[in-house]
Amino acid sequence: MLSIDPKSIKPVDLHQYLLACVAPRPIAFVSTMDAEGRPNLAPYSFFNAFSSNPPVLVFSSNRKASDNTTKDTLHNVRETGELVVNAVSFSMARQMALASVEYPPEINEFEKAGFTPLASSLVRPYRVAESPAQLECRVREIITLGDQGGAGHLIICDVVMLHINENVLDERGRVDPHKIDLVGRMGRFYYARASGEAVYNIEQRVDRFGMGFDQLPAGIRHSRVLTGNHLAQLAALPQPPDADAIAAIGEDPRMAAIRNAAHPLDELHRLVQMELAKEDVATAACMAWWGEVALGNQ
Ligand SMILES: Cc1cc2nc3c(=O)[nH]c(=O)nc-3n(C[C@H](O)[C@H](O)[C@H](O)COP(=O)(O)O)c2cc1C
Repeated sequence: MLSIDPKSIKPVDLHQYLLACVAPRPIAFVSTMDAEGRPNLAPYSFFNAFSSNPPVLVFSSNRKASDNTTKDTLHNVRETGELVVNAVSFSMARQMALASVEYPPEINEFEKAGFTPLASSLVRPYRVAESPAQLECRVREIITLGDQGGAGHLIICDVVMLHINENVLDERGRVDPHKIDLVGRMGRFYYARASGEAVYNIEQRVDRFGMGFDQLPAGIRHSRVLTGNHLAQLAALPQPPDADAIAAIGEDPRMAAIRNAAHPLDELHRLVQMELAKEDVATAACMAWWGEVALGNQ
């Protein structure tokens, strides 16, 4: 295990470790205006939602490591207190990256990166028409974290209006992750696309207690086949399967075949894996507990 005291390495290296370990990060594509009404657009991935009632977003505009200067977005929100956070979908990601180039304040990144400005309802900065979700915000507070290159300014924002493109909603009016197709920032030049096979469900019930790892019999818990993810599926059940259900699974022809395998318990746990992959946790549990009774630690 590599253990790093942040004071012992160069800030630029620390920055990269942080970016790689805190990832993927959502991207706030921040639209602002200066006091003279000139538009500005830049991506910020030190960003997240921190409260839904009241709705509050926070992003950080950092001092540049190269020359310790601060950024146009920070100057604009200090001057005007208004911004729009636009979500970034895969279809607009390269244009977003183009808008991150450090153009001078008088340059309009909407024009440079080919985005369409759309009037907002309650704030002066434009929305990005191509973005599937646009959040109009007012600045609540700005917290300065330091005065050296890399130091952040936390820009804490109240969301005053949300706009979501109907095209990314499912039939129940919920945002469909595959349709909104967001991208996240990772370390260096890595990005993640949050749709398709990258998106999956963990249906953890929170209305009942799972029995927990400590209730798993040793042969299951120390399986050579089942991973922590598999064990967590079993440990999320409220209790072990009952004796009748365990006995019934013993009649399954697959159980008889397992007895002749070179490593019956491993073979059984592979079957358990297959049932867990199908989300049939009840059958998987009966098989796993049957193994404890019928196979011991073979
Ligand atoms: C995907 C992405 C995420 C970024 N996130 C941040 C960030 O969280 N904080 C930051 O200070 N700069 C970040 N940057 C760099 C800024 O976008 C860049 O410095 C930009 O030129 C700032 O523009 P501005 O001066 O118009 O605000 C990011 C760049 C990219 C491409």
